[in-house]
Amino acid sequence: MCGIVGYIGNREAYPILIKGLHRLEYRGYDSAGIALIDSESNLHVYKTKGKVANLEQYCKDKNISGTIGIAHTRWATHGEPNDVNAHPHYSQSENLALIHNGIIENYLPLRQMLEKNGFTFVSQTDTEVLVQFIEYVRSKSQCSLYEAVHQALSQVVGAYAIGVLEKGNADVLVAARKGSPLIVGVGEQEYFLGSDASPIVEYTKNVIYLGEEEIVEIKRGSSDILIKNLSNVKLKPQIQKIQMDLSEIEKGGFEHFMLKEIFEQPKSLEMCMNGRVQTEMQEIILSGIRDNIAKFRNARRILITACGTSWHAALIGKYLIEYYCKIPVEVEVASEFRYRNPVVFEDDVLIAISQSGETADTLAAIELAKANGAFIYGICNAVGSSVARLTHSGTYTHAGPEIGVASTKAFTTQVAVLTMITLLLGKELGTIDDSTYKHLVTSLSEVSKKIEKILSKADKIEQISKVFTYARNFMYLGRGYNYPVALEGALKLKEISYIHAEGYPAAEMKHGPIALVDEEMPIVVVAPKFKIYDKIVSNIEELKARKGKIIAIVTEGDTNIANIADYVIEIPSTEECLSPLLTVIPLQLLSYYIATAKGRNVDQPRNLAKSVTVE
Ligand code: F6R
Repeated sequence: MCGIVGYIGNREAYPILIKGLHRLEYRGYDSAGIALIDSESNLHVYKTKGKVANLEQYCKDKNISGTIGIAHTRWATHGEPNDVNAHPHYSQSENLALIHNGIIENYLPLRQMLEKNGFTFVSQTDTEVLVQFIEYVRSKSQCSLYEAVHQALSQVVGAYAIGVLEKGNADVLVAARKGSPLIVGVGEQEYFLGSDASPIVEYTKNVIYLGEEEIVEIKRGSSDILIKNLSNVKLKPQIQKIQMDLSEIEKGGFEHFMLKEIFEQPKSLEMCMNGRVQTEMQEIILSGIRDNIAKFRNARRILITACGTSWHAALIGKYLIEYYCKIPVEVEVASEFRYRNPVVFEDDVLIAISQSGETADTLAAIELAKANGAFIYGICNAVGSSVARLTHSGTYTHAGPEIGVASTKAFTTQVAVLTMITLLLGKELGTIDDSTYKHLVTSLSEVSKKIEKILSKADKIEQISKVFTYARNFMYLGRGYNYPVALEGALKLKEISYIHAEGYPAAEMKHGPIALVDEEMPIVVVAPKFKIYDKIVSNIEELKARKGKIIAIVTEGDTNIANIADYVIEIPSTEECLSPLLTVIPLQLLSYYIATAKGRNVDQPRNLAKSVTVE
């Protein structure tokens, strides 16, 4: 939530900052702003409500020169999205400008204290309180900007990634993080800041992932990077190489990132399984599991926690692990888990799943389970993210950057990782027989090709979608492994098309939701041919009897459901436990096409942001 960019070096900062904001816009798009120091050391702030394009328009006739600057794209937490609440925020004297991603929890007492000391405020934001507080500390103790930021942050409760500039101090950029991500890009005689690597990768692959409670000072023309933590311990900067490629964060000819990412799934799954699913030997190789096998072998149970789409992947993980590994699994959304004082045993394993690796509730759930002595295993996509750093071990999904706000390839790669974990664990624990293991390994390696086949028939799904743009409600039903897929289909539709949608276990429908069914109600039934196929056919009959409009996801050649349903979308046949990897694809496409037909901005749906770094 909120994207941060910064630059200091010899080039003009404005184009770099604007391009960076466009790349980070998926993190929030309520308002955007930029602060620059010009050649006379004057500090200028330009900001406006709306998207980055509005900011560009606004800046057209402004003095946008300067080789140092910070910029921000906002997802509002405190204060409505308007020009005043947009970042950067000036301090009272207009000597400081600050951008912020996160929430300052004790902003009210700080604001009251500052007001008593003569400070006045123009916005409702916690960020303005922080910049004023830094100015207050700076004026009280006559210290450097770096010291003032350090002292101020020592008294701040909350989460932040910040960048600060000072008028008359054109050679210094100070930044800090706690709870929200921040990366420093290290180029030749120039430095960059980014909430993730996307604004940086075009210029350098050398980055420093700023750690928790770390404050950095970067100086023009100096190779010394000062990093201290809040306890005032000086830290050696750890420069790492990022693997990301520029083409991965561009649309590559697709109209939207979401469509590109849906079509990328065969490739992202291959990347995810590369070196891990050994087809010739019919083996799974996952060092994170192999190196910690005793933890899983001795686990009393496995807890899986996540939010949103990642939680749906977690639910599939429960079906997989309990069936094939015979270990009890509990799945809970992270925001519930962290606040209900859950019982966590030292011999529990907690698996945390997150695409971004920065979701605040998931991080808090990890901390809680860790404090109770559990072994923590992470499944995340963003390399170097907080989940990767807070967990004892884990597996990257290697889906590549996911920029569309609606998660697609992150989901399928999470499910693929959970499947690999299950197969390997089952083999190690002796709960899967050898022939089943080998058969499933081979079937898993064939999934990408099958997804390609589904994608090649996207036109048909687009045709079907046109029929349903009228709908105000949608129902999604599935059973077993495909119940979480129904939840995911409903979430995809509602978040990008703003059509109300509910996912249910198909048999639950008779316990209430069937009352909603009439000739207006589209019902997507995920009904591939597996062991309880007959039951789901009965469910479809019941819905048809009430005139519901059925869109069924069926196994290729299923003429039975084709005769009852209004529309069928076929998926190639596969094993039941692998079917979510296929059945979710038509649901992603259906949502995409309905939303675009309704003229929605699918990459940046209203009120949402990609990375939920606040509670
Ligand atoms: C839905 C979506 C969200 C995320 C959720 C968790 O399409 O993208 O529901 O899945 O915010 O995010 P991560 O996986 O980054 O923790």
